[in-house]
Amino acid sequence: MPESRVPRPRRFLVCEPRHFAVQYAINPWMHPDTQVDVDLARAQWQALIGAYRAHGHTVESVEPVAGLPDMVFAANSALVLEGRVFGAQFHAPQRRPESTAYDTWFKAAGFHVHRPESVCEGEGDLVPAGRYVLAGTGFRTTREAHREVQEFFGVPVISLHLVDPYFYHLDTALFVLDDDTVAYYPEAFSPGSREVLARLYPNAVLATREDALAFGLNSVSDGRHVFIAPGATALADQLVRRGYVPVPVDLSEFHKAGGGIKCCTQEIRS
Ligand code: ARG
Repeated sequence: MPESRVPRPRRFLVCEPRHFAVQYAINPWMHPDTQVDVDLARAQWQALIGAYRAHGHTVESVEPVAGLPDMVFAANSALVLEGRVFGAQFHAPQRRPESTAYDTWFKAAGFHVHRPESVCEGEGDLVPAGRYVLAGTGFRTTREAHREVQEFFGVPVISLHLVDPYFYHLDTALFVLDDDTVAYYPEAFSPGSREVLARLYPNAVLATREDALAFGLNSVSDGRHVFIAPGATALADQLVRRGYVPVPVDLSEFHKAGGGIKCCTQEIRS
């Protein structure tokens, strides 16, 4: 019998996909000639917010800005730990103005925002996991930013090298199930980083390429419920065997921009 898992209520920041579109290509999922079904995208996004609220989580939202089609991917806006906000500095010029909009929200909500000196894409690449922050590099966030994050929070940062352009952000290749467990797709990482993950998480859930391509690792766990893309069926089966409860939420329209559930979700940790 799997043990009974206890959920912890979370505070999330999201951004309505009012201006969502695929207008430029900054990852291999994006093709500027792709049509986004705007109504479907909005309905899928509403279903995610509904699922969070139905499971007891608090959801706040930042006002979307016209001309910033990727602003819906709130996870890239910052890393927030113990009420301290480490802001973003986007790699792509097209996304850079997003930081101003997010910083304005954080300041109005009473937070002080640290502006990073190096390229850093928030929770896309910075994933708090128990005593550590797991940090991706290779495509977006730099190792310099990892050092800055460690200095700012005083939390050990574990640098992990991403090698597959389809999994350009750490949160497309790994997610945290609870303080001691993660799920990840090993081949998205360099051999050394794979070894680091195997040492840190000998009991990790290992996902297949199919799970990862279905955005199954771009999931959000509250310690019991795992909000997960419905296409990641093998991964969901593994989670059930470990005592987690998958909550399928389909964000297929957002996959066209290379994003999924976690990308749309910024966690505010107080
Ligand atoms: N089109 C966006 C980009 O390439 C997608 C961001 C996805 N966000 C994430 N946390 N992985 O920047």
